[in-house]
Amino acid sequence: MTDSWDTIADWYVELLRTGSALNDFNRDILLDLLPDRLGGCRVLDLGCGEGIIARAVAARGAAVLGIDPSPRMIEHARAAGTGGAGTVVYEVDDGCVLGTVADSSVDWVTAGLSLNNVPDLDAALAAVRRVLAARGSLVLTIPHPCFEAPHAGWTQAADGAARRVVGDYLAEGFWRSGNPEAVRRAGNHHRTLATYLTALLRHAFVVEAVAEPAPSAEVAAEQPRRHGLPPFLAIRACLS
Ligand SMILES: C[S@@+](CC[C@H](N)C(=O)[O-])C[C@H]1O[C@@H](n2cnc3c(N)ncnc32)[C@H](O)[C@@H]1O
Repeated sequence: MTDSWDTIADWYVELLRTGSALNDFNRDILLDLLPDRLGGCRVLDLGCGEGIIARAVAARGAAVLGIDPSPRMIEHARAAGTGGAGTVVYEVDDGCVLGTVADSSVDWVTAGLSLNNVPDLDAALAAVRRVLAARGSLVLTIPHPCFEAPHAGWTQAADGAARRVVGDYLAEGFWRSGNPEAVRRAGNHHRTLATYLTALLRHAFVVEAVAEPAPSAEVAAEQPRRHGLPPFLAIRACLS
């Protein structure tokens, strides 16, 4: 059977709930680009998975709608409940369509490690633009495209240190890892940094913040070879 996000949903949920420093780090760098207080704000979490970001955003007081095309992910998200002061509801939906989300109905869209999974980035950004209210913003993270290009791997330098090897940065398109333990066995869409930034500009977003945070102490302890490389790229962009 070919893996998809739905078939690996139980595995992914187990990974996150038993403690994944990398996923916690991703959530935290995305939260760093949001206001501390979100009371009264409506937030769409696009590609919410099991709800790690939706719950954290609700804990800041927001009314959150989490959408994901994987019914199994949404089952897990619903079972996990809300994150605190705010509210969370979940719907099965495609980020390229957002058919469950009304026009101009949210103040923020969060997209944690999900836009690299949508097959049509232009359709997703057009949908995000449609559902954002005036002065709304998109906060996204993606695996850093410069270092997480298709089949990037590790080699050992003469001094014994691990070095990242990237061979196919310019090879845009769908790819999946052949490693049965890798999250990317579900497949994802590689796009260059320029493609992401150009797409945001084409959809008339104003890029307000770009971050390439160094691995947290927890990530460094879990995966020491990541020292010196940002695992993720984070961007905040608002409607013009
Ligand atoms: C790496 S997981 C991230 C989930 C969650 N945001 C997190 O941080 O754990 C990628 C998610 O993107 C979702 N996804 C795949 N295709 C999508 C699409 N067309 N629209 C929205 N989400 C999609 C997958 O189902 C999966 O839950």
